Amino acid sequence: MRNFISVHDVKDINALVEKALAYKHDPFKDRNLGADKRIGLLFLNPSLRTRLSTQVAARNLGLEPIVFNVDKEGWMLEFEEGAIMSGNTVEHIKDAAPILGQYFDILCIRTFPSLKNREDDYSEMYIQQFIKYAGVPVISLESATLHPLQSLTDIITMTEHIPVTTGETDGKFHTVSAKPKVVLTWAPHVKALPQCVANSFAQWVNAWDGKAEFVITHPEDYELSEEFTKGATIIHDQDEALKNADFVYVKNWSTFKDYGKIYENDPKWMLTEEKLKLTNNAKVMHCLPVRRNVELSDEVLDGPNSIVTQEAGNRVWAAQAVISEILKGE
Ligand code: CP
Repeated sequence: MRNFISVHDVKDINALVEKALAYKHDPFKDRNLGADKRIGLLFLNPSLRTRLSTQVAARNLGLEPIVFNVDKEGWMLEFEEGAIMSGNTVEHIKDAAPILGQYFDILCIRTFPSLKNREDDYSEMYIQQFIKYAGVPVISLESATLHPLQSLTDIITMTEHIPVTTGETDGKFHTVSAKPKVVLTWAPHVKALPQCVANSFAQWVNAWDGKAEFVITHPEDYELSEEFTKGATIIHDQDEALKNADFVYVKNWSTFKDYGKIYENDPKWMLTEEKLKLTNNAKVMHCLPVRRNVELSDEVLDGPNSIVTQEAGNRVWAAQAVISEILKGE
């Protein structure tokens, strides 16, 4: 693996999941893999889980992580080709990225979308320019349209909960995983959020070797890009969608078509205990941070079906598996 920007950088999702789970079982088994190497974590936006789990993962592999809050501590970067830099931007990415590439063996970058110009956001201009000019492998810590470390984590977490049956045919033992129903449901929120987590979750579940029956539910006008949802069943009736679900993934996103807006924000879309009764005793997931009693009720988040803490914990193993693949050139 050279870069980790989307599911397209992954040869075999299940092999990567197995690798992550092996690190969960034995975090220090490759403790010297990254010896004498440095990983730079550049944040143009806030973070709790991604910032900390990636540092833990790097240290488990013997790498030295260095965090740089570009938004607060760095010069304001210019990304536009041919820009006349007479405004607020101080340093062009063309000048900054090659220097960062000399300081670090791997660069990790978080850049949120503007939610103002869809074309610019969906071109992934920021992360693509880091890749173009840094000259070292780049890992996305969430970009304008995708959050691949989160999605890998989500697949790892679901894998841990999928029932497996063992059997014997012609004298040979085999294991069969159940095919769960996975529902991604839109939830209300107080502000316009990116589509990244939902896009990315859809992209990964669709690419997951047909391992799940995949349903997306949202109010009309909240369609995501078909580039990511193609293959999923889309239902606008949330109750209908939730029936017999094994996993419910809750997430808000702003509108894609009339870009970056909040239309309907009906509190009825909040996931409650009542709605959970429609499911097959589903496990409830959310990438966090979560707005309690707006997106999900306290009862659901604090109840036995919630696996959000385990999910967030798994961020370490996802990051460790990805960094390891990059270091090994696999
Ligand atoms: N889920 C996630 O990316 O969390 P942070 O924004 O806190 O990193």
